[in-house]
Amino acid sequence: MKKMPLLTKSLLFYNGEKFSMKKFINKIKCLFKKTATETLTDSCPPDTPSPEEKPKSPKRKKHLRTLVFLSLFITLIWYSFIFEPNNIQIENLNIEVKNLPEGFEDVKIVQLSDLHSYGFDNREKKVLEMVRQINPDFIFITGDLIDHSTKDMDSVQTFWQELGRQYPEKVFVVLGNHEHNNIYIDSKSTKKRLTESGIVVLDNENQKIFQDEKYIYLVGVDDPRSGKDDLKKALENTEKDIPKILLAHSPEIIYSPNNPKEEKVDLILTGHTHGGQVKFPFLRAFWIPTKDRGKFDSGLFEVNGTPLYVNHGIGLSGLPIRFNCPPEITVIELEKKL
Ligand SMILES: [Fe+2]
Repeated sequence: MKKMPLLTKSLLFYNGEKFSMKKFINKIKCLFKKTATETLTDSCPPDTPSPEEKPKSPKRKKHLRTLVFLSLFITLIWYSFIFEPNNIQIENLNIEVKNLPEGFEDVKIVQLSDLHSYGFDNREKKVLEMVRQINPDFIFITGDLIDHSTKDMDSVQTFWQELGRQYPEKVFVVLGNHEHNNIYIDSKSTKKRLTESGIVVLDNENQKIFQDEKYIYLVGVDDPRSGKDDLKKALENTEKDIPKILLAHSPEIIYSPNNPKEEKVDLILTGHTHGGQVKFPFLRAFWIPTKDRGKFDSGLFEVNGTPLYVNHGIGLSGLPIRFNCPPEITVIELEKKL
């Protein structure tokens, strides 16, 4: 019996013939007809001289195997292109922080990252609805809110205005490489639109965030991927014993030459990697756009005693697919380190 060609091989040479879309579609139609009725037509020439000369069962088995193969292939395409990219997951994270003021033990922080928005579309609406259900105290967005090719900024801004309106003075953002590389709008104008929408952009600066009249510092650096981060400046005038959460677009902040080793924070929240978007079980993602080639691909790490979290992101970049790496909203709760 002839062995079933491999996936890639079958795309180029189906049953030894050079690939042609017309032949391919015709073949699928024939397979369905043959399996269902065993009736052959002019457009579906017989593969065997006559049913009497050869037994039916091996041919039928072959048709069934091909049908199973095609069904799996179509399911995989649907799953990777449509289902998983829209299947946003909620990841819960508990982080212990030294000297955490009492009021902060009950706060809920939502981290969003890498939305790569092209407008106020279904994905943005779904994010708003999911965030509404989480009911967070603060929302931190770690860059790449737009894609480098996003053009309809008015539509994207509608999403930002909704966030700003629903969570006034609670939404904080740092910029990513796509804000800096956008071909239609410069990062200064993007920053202006964010600010006008009621969102605070932390551009190498810090801000006290309050809960029950106590505060911690939220520190934000501009994109380390683009070399625009300045942690020393961002930490200016912060008090040593007050906890600090650092927002940076990429985990590359930890190797940044602009990141002096003596500067210490209590938690680093990042994105940028999208977790690789496609991750086969037991293998590392093959696409991670960082200098360390994926050492910090996604999830929680500890770097010199400091927790570093890398969010999968919500949107897509490069190939419009996700596999085993769903989009993510992170919910962070802080605990006092004893
Ligand atoms: Fe990025």
